[in-house]
Amino acid sequence: MAYYIDMKNKVEKIKQEKDILILGIETSCDDTSAAITRNGREILGQKIASQIELHKRYGGVVPEIASRKHIETISPLIEETIEEAGVSLDSLHGVAVTYGPGLAGALLVGVSAAKALAYGLTIPLIGVHHIEGHISANYIEHKDLEPPFLCLVVSGGHSHLVWVKDYGKYEILGRTLDDAAGEAYDKVARTLGLGYPGGPAIDKLAPKGDPHFIEYPRPYIKESHYNFSFSGLKTAVINHLHNMKQQGQDYCAEDIAASFQQAVVDILVDKTIRAAQDKGTKKVALAGGVASNSALRAQLKERAEEKGLELYYPSPLLCTDNGAMIACAGYYRLLAGDISDLTLNAVPGLALV
Ligand code: KG4
Ligand code: ZN
Repeated sequence: MAYYIDMKNKVEKIKQEKDILILGIETSCDDTSAAITRNGREILGQKIASQIELHKRYGGVVPEIASRKHIETISPLIEETIEEAGVSLDSLHGVAVTYGPGLAGALLVGVSAAKALAYGLTIPLIGVHHIEGHISANYIEHKDLEPPFLCLVVSGGHSHLVWVKDYGKYEILGRTLDDAAGEAYDKVARTLGLGYPGGPAIDKLAPKGDPHFIEYPRPYIKESHYNFSFSGLKTAVINHLHNMKQQGQDYCAEDIAASFQQAVVDILVDKTIRAAQDKGTKKVALAGGVASNSALRAQLKERAEEKGLELYYPSPLLCTDNGAMIACAGYYRLLAGDISDLTLNAVPGLALV
């Protein structure tokens, strides 16, 4: 408790600094990442250690393997990040860390490392929501972007339409009622034998196929609410594939990938444009791993331009999990005085609001 009170007092002093350096740590799934940002929006150094090679053979992330690998990786990775940034540990003003949602054991590794550093350096600890991190990646890429804006967050674990009212202030307009968009990508890719993660593989294959080879279902596309459902679409594609295989029919993976992707993109684009119009905003952002999908970017951009909306998205490296987005979100939390105490724990099912 003494630490927390001291840090609450320290925040006011930190806010007077010209340059505020935050270390961001991310270990919620299968990427170990750390980054140092200056004033939230500039990356001084960032390291991302992907575990894809380890999980590939299982077709998805194995939680126990992920936590063990994070433990091995985290300390040297933080050291390398500090070296790359060219700063000393003493010059850091805060440590931000993802504490949920995510895999419990994986989150715990990052949270424990962040607590140790914050306590040892006597600087504030800032717990960050993973989705808030994804949204914040846009602030790094677009220095002029300020809330309010609409953000479509689509990743392996989440599909949310979020109204970003202000820094750290969110309203969830809609979310997936079952699978996340990235999860559907991964499962369809697996059935097509494209390996893990499936999103980038389908993204690469789809342009070679016919997106209207088959019209897969587009659940809820015409409904007025902003919730999504990708489970039915995923099952429709998988069943279609199984039926063709059983009947010995030849099929072209490119056409299946393109048709599946077109269905996903149609749903995401339609709902996002409608939500932007309902909210009366001109600013729309994309975030999360699926935000690096080229068809989604291109088709949302086209529709946004038609409607006079400005579209923002992070570069592919900042779309998938990374420490910089967490440092950025942590910076704005710190400015708001919203810091954590040392009882901070991993919360696998943490809600955004
Ligand atoms: O944001 P992220 O790294 O982790 C989570 O928070 O879940 O997102 C990973 C997800 C995976 O499902 C992956 O297949 C998907 O993002 N993904 C893509 C693309 N790149 C990554 N999906 C579609 N197209 C892509 N280019
Ligand atoms: Zn993520």
